[in-house]
Amino acid sequence: MLSASQIIDKYISFFEKHGHKKIANSPLIPLNDPTTLFTSSGMQPLVPYLLGEKHPQGVRLVNAQNCFRAQDIDEIGDNRHTTFFRMLGNWSLGDYFKKEQIPWYWEFLTKVIGLPKEKLYITVFKGFESIPRDEESEKLWTEILSSEGLDPKEKIFSYGAEKNWWSRAGTPKKMPKGEPGGPDSEVFFDFGTPHDSRFGEECHPNCECGRFIEIGNSVFMEYIKTESGFEKLPNQNVDFGGGLERLLQAYENQADIFETSLLYPILKTLEKITAKNYKDHKREMRIVMDHFVAAV
Ligand code: GLY
Repeated sequence: MLSASQIIDKYISFFEKHGHKKIANSPLIPLNDPTTLFTSSGMQPLVPYLLGEKHPQGVRLVNAQNCFRAQDIDEIGDNRHTTFFRMLGNWSLGDYFKKEQIPWYWEFLTKVIGLPKEKLYITVFKGFESIPRDEESEKLWTEILSSEGLDPKEKIFSYGAEKNWWSRAGTPKKMPKGEPGGPDSEVFFDFGTPHDSRFGEECHPNCECGRFIEIGNSVFMEYIKTESGFEKLPNQNVDFGGGLERLLQAYENQADIFETSLLYPILKTLEKITAKNYKDHKREMRIVMDHFVAAV
């Protein structure tokens, strides 16, 4: 079995083999960036380079970045959200694009980490206003899944800007002028837990019932928000981000992030010092564990 830190090592060395340079983990309090209080994704320290500045380490970068997402604090208590996490990230600054990123990520998940391909689901961008549907990603995924003997019609789902567009600010409408963003393609892991109909009639990758969790997001960052809408950035960039703790969940086929090998020792300690059972107090204990980790 791989540990969380062995998964990080495998991710970094896989992308190093594909010509990426490892960049340092940046401080959780961003340096020289007054736009946000905490580093909340691996791309945060790379914004100037995604906008076109030259990065001293080149055009292919990889790292594992400590992140804190204050905006997720009210989600804590479910089976998959944490405010603090480590994000595995790889970037192309105007170098490779979709036809390299998508097959590499699939290879990493299924061959390097060995996730069962049957449990993986894909989402792609179906278009929004003047920004077209991401047909190229859809075609690439169709080819990969077909060559693996999987039915692309059952595995690929398309969503609009509320789910398959990524920027630091969220959807295109929420982005301030000058902010980079783009359509994304996400991979979800299916834990096969029963669907909870409170979240809708049918289950699907972006359903909130907890059966599916998103484990990685390839953002095709090629747009900048302008006064009147969107323009293309000088480069077509790739900004990939995937939560290490979520990948560990998939690797261990553990539908509860707090029961993975990384967080379970904290759970056991909390049960011991409170003399209470986790199964009777899941939500409260998840909040305590999450906030404890984040505060440390
Ligand atoms: N920057 C990609 C992500 O956070 O999902």
